[in-house]
Amino acid sequence: MAIRRLGDENTWVLETELTAYVLGVDKQGGLQHLYWGDRLPLDRDYPRPTLALFDSPFESPRSIVYEEYPAWGGIKFTEPCLKVCHADGVRTSALVYDFSEMSEGAIPELVIGLKDSQYGLVIRLHYKLYEEFDIIERYAEVANDGARAVIIEQILSAAWAFPKGTGYRLTYLAGRWGAETQVRRLSLEQGKFVLESRRGLTSPQVNPWFAIDGRERATEETGRVWYGALSWSGSWKIVVEQTSLGQLIVSGGINDFDFTWLLEPGEVFKTPVFVGGYTTGGFGAASRNMHGYQLKHVLPKAQGDGSRLRKVLFNSWEAVGFNVSTDSLATLAEKAASLGVELFVVDDGWFGSRNDDTAGLGDWRPSPRKFPNGLKPLIERVRDLGMEFGIWVEPEMVNPDSDLYRGHPDWVYNFPTMPRSQGRNQLVLNLSRNDVKEYIFHCLDRLLSDNDIAFVKWDANRHFSEPGWPESPEGREREVWVRHVLAVYDILDRLRQAHPQVAFESCSGGGGRVDLGILRRTDQVWPSDNTDPLDRLWIHEGFSYAYCPKVMSAWVTDSSRDCLAFGFHSAMAGSLGISANLNQWSPEELELARQKIAEYKEIRHIVQEGRLYRLTSPSGTGSNAGVSLSAVQYVSPDQDESVLFVFLLSRQFRTPIPRTMLRGLRPDCVYEVTGNGPHAEPVRLSGKALSSLGIEPALSASRDSLLVRIRRTDR
Ligand code: DGJ
Repeated sequence: MAIRRLGDENTWVLETELTAYVLGVDKQGGLQHLYWGDRLPLDRDYPRPTLALFDSPFESPRSIVYEEYPAWGGIKFTEPCLKVCHADGVRTSALVYDFSEMSEGAIPELVIGLKDSQYGLVIRLHYKLYEEFDIIERYAEVANDGARAVIIEQILSAAWAFPKGTGYRLTYLAGRWGAETQVRRLSLEQGKFVLESRRGLTSPQVNPWFAIDGRERATEETGRVWYGALSWSGSWKIVVEQTSLGQLIVSGGINDFDFTWLLEPGEVFKTPVFVGGYTTGGFGAASRNMHGYQLKHVLPKAQGDGSRLRKVLFNSWEAVGFNVSTDSLATLAEKAASLGVELFVVDDGWFGSRNDDTAGLGDWRPSPRKFPNGLKPLIERVRDLGMEFGIWVEPEMVNPDSDLYRGHPDWVYNFPTMPRSQGRNQLVLNLSRNDVKEYIFHCLDRLLSDNDIAFVKWDANRHFSEPGWPESPEGREREVWVRHVLAVYDILDRLRQAHPQVAFESCSGGGGRVDLGILRRTDQVWPSDNTDPLDRLWIHEGFSYAYCPKVMSAWVTDSSRDCLAFGFHSAMAGSLGISANLNQWSPEELELARQKIAEYKEIRHIVQEGRLYRLTSPSGTGSNAGVSLSAVQYVSPDQDESVLFVFLLSRQFRTPIPRTMLRGLRPDCVYEVTGNGPHAEPVRLSGKALSSLGIEPALSASRDSLLVRIRRTDR
């Protein structure tokens, strides 16, 4: 049994394949977190709840244990998961255990009920087990069973607790526009470190993912790593707190900044999911578990036409910018099709009076000047060339210079007495309003119903300011941060339902909306507007800590033309696309592109659905002095096939290239290795040899790169 109660006690053990998570009720009815780590052989190995005293007038028995879901109240001062204000002005809660429910099945689930009887507040804590990936999903529901409304001031999804001690290290993914998902590390000391977005969207500044390793330090392939990620696409926060008593707690969920939620009697508020996992296999295993979980349980089941794999796409943005028209795109479409591109996406510029970023946003009708006969002639051309057609939209935004805004200036977030700040010449539509949400849904629904569209890129190019909702029901003004995200989810869910053949890509000026919440409803994401193939190695590395390569869109653009093979290899490590002015490419460049796209189609099932091994980080780990290289390997789930990408970033003094040790192969099987250099003969070696002795990448000058293929053979 994955979830069981220990004897008659109110202590529960949640076991995945390799891990255990334990929580229990103490003598005072408090729900304590007791353990999260390796699965242990005996029931008596697992700790039971205790309440002890600490010799300090400033602590309480409850402040020195780990509370499973701390609500603010009593003598305890760590980050609360719940803070409410009752109608009588009381602002603290006293939660005690009420009930539990267990269900087995493909995804076992435990629900623990807590209550504050004084006020009729009922909290249901949910735990869903993804056993094969050693992952637990947690979220909370708060129900108001009382007679009067309650104001929720803070409601996090979960608090994760770690074995008491010090010397922990935090790994997180931070950056900015054009430099997303950079791996950052921090030794934790007493105090709080807050990762958050207050921007209304997930944000490129920091991604809602964390990993913790212990004093002994994990490596890529060994050591204890706890990790987690939020399933939320709006303002969020993750608080990493090391207390004066050696507790380490990571709590997270919807950001409480400027947020309140009015919970009327009979209503329930449900938090987003906070996913957590534990492994002793280092950061590599943590990533592979997250990838496997996403592929099987998070991503929408099939892309558009039901195919499993992401298509090779062409996107117009870096080729022609806003200058899209049937004429400007016809030749590009022909060239793209001749290279083997499968999906042709028209980016920004096709609608309203959109000639640059100052006008037209919100008017989701084809520009009469650029597409006098609508989109159909271009779509037919693209379809005749054997490709599918995709389109860009930015549904949550509006330019003041648009018919939509002229007709509905009250449809944006605003404070009537304050100036409306513009970002990229645009304002944010108030999707908390039902009429605005429905209008946007119907625009998109009509667009997809009237046209043969297989792919939608959903962009969002500014963060929120002046988040006012002048017409809101009383007491609900500050709900906009949550209502907006729920509206986006609702529109996407309904569009998917109505148009199951359409695949979606999430974008926010690059990787500003990459999270598990959006990945439940989109097939891929755009990790960064930075398409420099070298910079992308860092962005991809960080991205891969948290998210699977299948969803990682990567384009070859004109910025790769001085190292085209390198550019292709960098992009082939994710979901490959091209966005370049192919009209200017030489026959040799086009031929290379054709070859690489064909090669990608042969290997994409391994890249998109295989197991990823970060062999050598572009940041230098494992490189010899004088040589800086990066290597990443993918292995098919059956371990019969593998691909290895190696990138030479720089080389001095003719320093010999270090060998690269492969991972994830069957030691006793024989593999044929091809592609290690343009003239290399195939070699046949055992999986053991490939992991112990490795291969010497045939690279010599900086920006050289290799795509090495490894296939199991009988001999
Ligand atoms: C930002 C995106 O990241 C780009 O790829 C492109 O779609 C532009 N927006 C279009 O305005």
